[in-house]
Amino acid sequence: MAIQISPNGRLMTIQTNDSSYQMLADKNGVLLHLYYGSSIGAEDLSDLIVRSDVGFSGNPEEAGLDRTYSLDTLPQEVASSGVGDFRDDSVRLTHPDGSCAADFRFESCEVVSGAYSIPGMPALYDTDKKNSETLIIKMKEKASGAILHLYYGVWEEENVITRTASLTNAGKEPIYVEKFLSCSMDMMDRDLDLISFTGRHAMERTMERTPVTHIKTEFGSIRGTSSHHYNPAMILCDRHATEDAGDCFGLCLAYSGSFTAMAQKDQRDQIRVQMGINPYQFRWCLTGGETFFAPQVILSFSNQGFSKLSHQYHDILHEHMCRGRYKHERRPVLINNWEATYFDFNEEKIEKIAAQAGELGIEMMVLDDGWFGKRDDDNSGLGDWFVNEKKIRGGLPKLSEKIHEKGMKFGLWFEPEMISEDSDLYRAHPDWAITIPGRVPNHARNQLVLDMTRSDVRDYLMARFEEILGNTKIEYVKWDMNRSICDMYSHIYKGEQSGECYHRYILGVYDLLERFVQRFPEILLEGCSGGGGRFDAGMLYYSPQIWCSDNTDAMNRLDIQYGTSFFYPISSVGAHVSACPNHQTGRSVPLSTRADVALAGSFGYELDLRLLSDEEKAQVKEQIKEFHDYYDLTHEGDYYRLTERDNTSFTAWEFVAKNKERALVEVVKKDAWGNPLPVHVAIKGLEDNSMYVCSLNGIKRSGKTWNHAGITLPKFLSAGESMKFTFMKVE
Ligand code: GLA
Repeated sequence: MAIQISPNGRLMTIQTNDSSYQMLADKNGVLLHLYYGSSIGAEDLSDLIVRSDVGFSGNPEEAGLDRTYSLDTLPQEVASSGVGDFRDDSVRLTHPDGSCAADFRFESCEVVSGAYSIPGMPALYDTDKKNSETLIIKMKEKASGAILHLYYGVWEEENVITRTASLTNAGKEPIYVEKFLSCSMDMMDRDLDLISFTGRHAMERTMERTPVTHIKTEFGSIRGTSSHHYNPAMILCDRHATEDAGDCFGLCLAYSGSFTAMAQKDQRDQIRVQMGINPYQFRWCLTGGETFFAPQVILSFSNQGFSKLSHQYHDILHEHMCRGRYKHERRPVLINNWEATYFDFNEEKIEKIAAQAGELGIEMMVLDDGWFGKRDDDNSGLGDWFVNEKKIRGGLPKLSEKIHEKGMKFGLWFEPEMISEDSDLYRAHPDWAITIPGRVPNHARNQLVLDMTRSDVRDYLMARFEEILGNTKIEYVKWDMNRSICDMYSHIYKGEQSGECYHRYILGVYDLLERFVQRFPEILLEGCSGGGGRFDAGMLYYSPQIWCSDNTDAMNRLDIQYGTSFFYPISSVGAHVSACPNHQTGRSVPLSTRADVALAGSFGYELDLRLLSDEEKAQVKEQIKEFHDYYDLTHEGDYYRLTERDNTSFTAWEFVAKNKERALVEVVKKDAWGNPLPVHVAIKGLEDNSMYVCSLNGIKRSGKTWNHAGITLPKFLSAGESMKFTFMKVE
């Protein structure tokens, strides 16, 4: 039983295989958080809370003369607002009389089988209701009667608990929702570190670890996308947690818009942790009877360090968030023309690149930016999704046919959410662009953003998809989004509703994406936002792979892919071999290393293959064979980080097949010194009692020995050089 409820219906204990989570609705209806951590029984743990009279922490009416009972000190599941909890709130409301108070009390709870879905937003799904159960807790706002539902999705085997919430206005007049987070939780008696994944364009998801203190650690995005700058995921862990040891709590938000995440110790050293939609420019007008839903937070716990936590996220996101044909189907090796040609191409050049690629075993030609409208550079044309016949003579169907004749699939780039001022679309519909009347908008890449809150805008885009994808044989679409959103304003949602635009924008994007995947279920969709600016669990619901970064430098990719691997399945990481010197960093790295790094992802090439030497072409053929050979490991296996990010000498990682039959280890030497030291690599995840032979030295040992003793590389690698080897299970 994943969810246990005490006979009086007030003590709720959630059990997964390796974790427990407990809440109690106390006698006043306050929903207390009692426990989240290693698996334990279901007995009432409320004795863990020892109250005292804390000065300046006032008492609600129900406390009477008991000065020890305070919303300001109790560990809770919902953080009230304006009624005596002076920590960060999770629900902030403005009522019709202008007062700002939110005080929710428990009403009831129920358990339903299967996973919950969230209207218009991504959420983990459980098609045949086999894996999950849901606990729904109903709470009522003391004065206004507004109803809050807290949802806890329980995935027992997967060690995952999801949370979201909805708010219903029970009155007649509108309530303004000023803040409505998906998850708030107060953890008692904990000293924790917070790990976040920060960065910038072309350098995303750099791991950062900091102790949680009384000074608030808050991060998020107000860019309208989840962003390159902070990823909507965090880990709270023991101060000494490592890859293999220690308690770790993951929080991963399935949301692609502006978000907030926060952890802070309170005056009693409890840690309040929160996640959800960023309240920046957020104000939702909730009319009588209407319900507002928060996006989903996916929680997971491991008491064996980060590796196990990552496996749990990889498995649940791959299996229960990614959808469609390519969830498990082999992804084609692609060639993308972007870094090969940028805007300077015509159909002849593309055909030649495709011909060369086809000869080497590449399976799909992706035509990137520049095939439509007036688009010879990035100053114009966005929105005009009509083929530019000056560049692609004969149109897309003909080009696609030529490519298919070579035995290859064909893919196309779109940036649906954008509009250039120099475009026919803008000239026809200037009000479709997000700008504030009377202000000159900020430009980024000289483009504006389409008002995705509008159904007519979405209909236009859908009609363009229909026309292009309906009439051309296209097997892949790259859905890009290349700027942050500001100057927010919509001609539809204005005035009282202007605070809804950021969230409605992303709801609009989700609506269009949903229509797209329903209409074109055979197409492999790759998400992108200037590389990994919208690399989040929400996008994985629509696109099983996401272009990880515009930075294709293999050495930088080591760090970017390392950070990405904590939450996101390796199969979701778009990774390409590009030309050297690298266009982003100017660095040259051997072709073999570039391919070894890209192998830890959904693999492709992004360079003019015609410029390669015969020897390099032979290498490419070999690399493609290897990608196919190792596919079950890289896309379906368990991934282990074998080095820490601060290892300046080398980076190593490993894939172990789910059936433990074989493993692949990859090592990249980062730096080299005189009088070099041998490189010793840890090995993980092999079956203790089975024998494995290592391809590097032919030595046969038990999995247990390999796991404990590791391996020392027999040769010294130079800076930038890589090596990979396997372990095969033998009798
Ligand atoms: C973004 C993408 C790139 C490429 C360009 C095209 O930067 O991340 O891969 O598609 O746009 O303009």
